[in-house]
Amino acid sequence: MKKKLIAGNWKMNGSLAANEKLIAEILAAKPGVAADVAVCVPAPYLQQVSALLAGSSVDLGAQDVSAHEAGAYTGEASAQMLKEFAVRYAIIGHSERRQYHGETDESIAAKAQAALKAGICPIVCVGESLEEREAGHTEEVVRRQLAAVVHTNGHCISEIVVAYEPRWAIGTGKTATPEQAQEVHAALRAQLRLATAHADRIRILYGGSMNAANAAVLLAQPDIDGGLIGGAALKAVDFLKIVEAAQ
Ligand code: PGA
Repeated sequence: MKKKLIAGNWKMNGSLAANEKLIAEILAAKPGVAADVAVCVPAPYLQQVSALLAGSSVDLGAQDVSAHEAGAYTGEASAQMLKEFAVRYAIIGHSERRQYHGETDESIAAKAQAALKAGICPIVCVGESLEEREAGHTEEVVRRQLAAVVHTNGHCISEIVVAYEPRWAIGTGKTATPEQAQEVHAALRAQLRLATAHADRIRILYGGSMNAANAAVLLAQPDIDGGLIGGAALKAVDFLKIVEAAQ
């Protein structure tokens, strides 16, 4: 059976002192045995957190990656640069980046390819807005978002992680019910099966107000292979409870 993956998305939170404390508390529990565990930290803290995690079973992730290799791209960080800090995962196409930074399915696909080329596993986020859900367009939206990544040529898409994050559930305290989430995960899995013989080993994470109280029931769904955790990843006790629920 594939291991579940619990990835913390710290978003734009943290400080040198707070990161040190949070990582120390997480590592004290020695997580990362029954389930894979990662923390995706703001770029300025990659070096610090990389050093704190060295030799542990917790992996490091970034929250974005440039589609370009080098050059005149002010403000961006290339996959090769991330690699220098032992980054294993990069969140790509998070809804906050789609919403506030104009990221498109095409630019997200290019970023996913750049990550794969450098040996970084992209965590590709898909998810519908409340309006789209209410209009009955959920599957169409997430399929379109995933198709952009799946149908780019090049690196093997079986190396990606997918995260289903309904936009209306992110940071709102509103979680998709396990049935709602499973339904979308099953649709995404079916889409992946058409693209690769290895679809069953691709991890499809759920994200959107996953917390210590609701994690177990979400993670018990057959096509939910882990979680992308925002708010609850900032407190070690909450994050560790979710990790425990994934074992
Ligand atoms: P949340 O965020 O857990 O705070 O809802 C999840 C995410 O945006 O990745």
